[in-house]
Amino acid sequence: MNQDQQQLDLMDKIVSLCKRRGFIFPGSEIYGGLANSWDYGPLGVELKNNIKNMWWDRFVRRRSDVVGIDAALIMNPKVWEASGHLKEFNDPLVECRKCNSRFRDVPELRTRREQFEGKDDFSWICRDCNTLNEFNPRQFNLMLKTFLGPVEDENSVVYFRPETAQAMFVDFKNILQSISKKLPFGIAQMGKAFRNEITPGNFIFRTREFEQMEIEYFVRESEWEKYFAEWQESMRTWLSDVGVDLTHVHEVEIPDGERAHYSKRTVDFEYEYPFGQKELYGLSYRGDFDLKNHFKEAPYNDIETGGKLYPHVIEPTFGVDRSVLAVLCDAYKEESARVVLKLKPKLAPYKVAVFPLLANKPPLVEKAKQVYSKLQASRSTFHVAWDDRGNIGKRYYAQDEIGTPWCITIDFQTLADDTVTVRDRDTTEQVRKPIAELDSYFVRMLE
Ligand code: GAP
Repeated sequence: MNQDQQQLDLMDKIVSLCKRRGFIFPGSEIYGGLANSWDYGPLGVELKNNIKNMWWDRFVRRRSDVVGIDAALIMNPKVWEASGHLKEFNDPLVECRKCNSRFRDVPELRTRREQFEGKDDFSWICRDCNTLNEFNPRQFNLMLKTFLGPVEDENSVVYFRPETAQAMFVDFKNILQSISKKLPFGIAQMGKAFRNEITPGNFIFRTREFEQMEIEYFVRESEWEKYFAEWQESMRTWLSDVGVDLTHVHEVEIPDGERAHYSKRTVDFEYEYPFGQKELYGLSYRGDFDLKNHFKEAPYNDIETGGKLYPHVIEPTFGVDRSVLAVLCDAYKEESARVVLKLKPKLAPYKVAVFPLLANKPPLVEKAKQVYSKLQASRSTFHVAWDDRGNIGKRYYAQDEIGTPWCITIDFQTLADDTVTVRDRDTTEQVRKPIAELDSYFVRMLE
């Protein structure tokens, strides 16, 4: 198997583990699915929420210069007119002349035929029917439309937001009036965004419905470079703290002509997914583009100069689903007899699993149930798994595969001295701990 095939094989294994163990399922599967939509299952929702909570804690709660909001998904269409999305938020689309399949134009799709009067001349082969086509892309708007109210006409057309960012600009004055912040300060939001992607695919990498975590950080124009560099560093630290190996991440400067319509500078954080190096996050300098388009008068009273101004914006943007994917890809390891998800313990769906050594010995089961309930009710709010199926070895492997950092076994010694074995997922080493100390032990380990 060559390296490319190995990587694709790895992707298949991750997708299959996600389905088998309840992380992520194909959406509407019993009806044949729906165009690359995915549902997070019992373990997936825990992993995703752990990432979101860690992000909110780090970038909102623990910073005095950032506040959060949670705005409506569907906004007045004038927002999208002012933001430029209705006109500019397009992707190039090609359509097969034979089978009418449509694809997003990406460099891998094109074949360079010849240079023609100094210009490249391309053709492309349809992936569905193999027809050779002329290369003549047209612009396709990615806004996802619907109608609001009982009448479906032009006046009731609205759009699902394609980014969480705009509400943070539109609400800018309300936020300032309610919490009075001085520059520099940020507004953060996480939530769903929708794009009518031409070719969704690669599992949860490109979907039409996805989640973002974004910060709009408002600064004085003269200071934008300083804060751009600070956020670039914060994004690196975040990636390393969620367990993404930074050698798998490449920071790519996006050249003029390839940036989004609002951006004056963008650095993409690209990750080496098994299907290739592609965007994970982005960091953009949006200048005063958005606030100027939404507010006719400068919305910020500058106490230093006594005048009004349009703050400039640095925007670090983090895709939630791509975070989940990168974290899973880096955590997935095959080690001799086992598959193990080496997730950071803070992100693991279950922190601890509790087993009675033998499921047919009532005193062991009863004691194990007590330990399980005690940990579940702990003020440290661990999410705890229970397993009494099969033998201990199989239970360990089942927990390794879903990334549970610690497994507790209740054995005959427990009945005598109230101690248990705690087995570490990564080293597979076991230590004996008194039941009374488990709570504080795991709190310490999680820190
Ligand atoms: N507000 C800026 C903005 O939306 P973007 O680069 O278009 O910038 C931000 O999107 C992030 O959202 C991306 O870096 C990616 O993580 C995520 N994202 C974008 N489109 C996506 C899609 N179709 N499916 C999953 N995630 C997506």
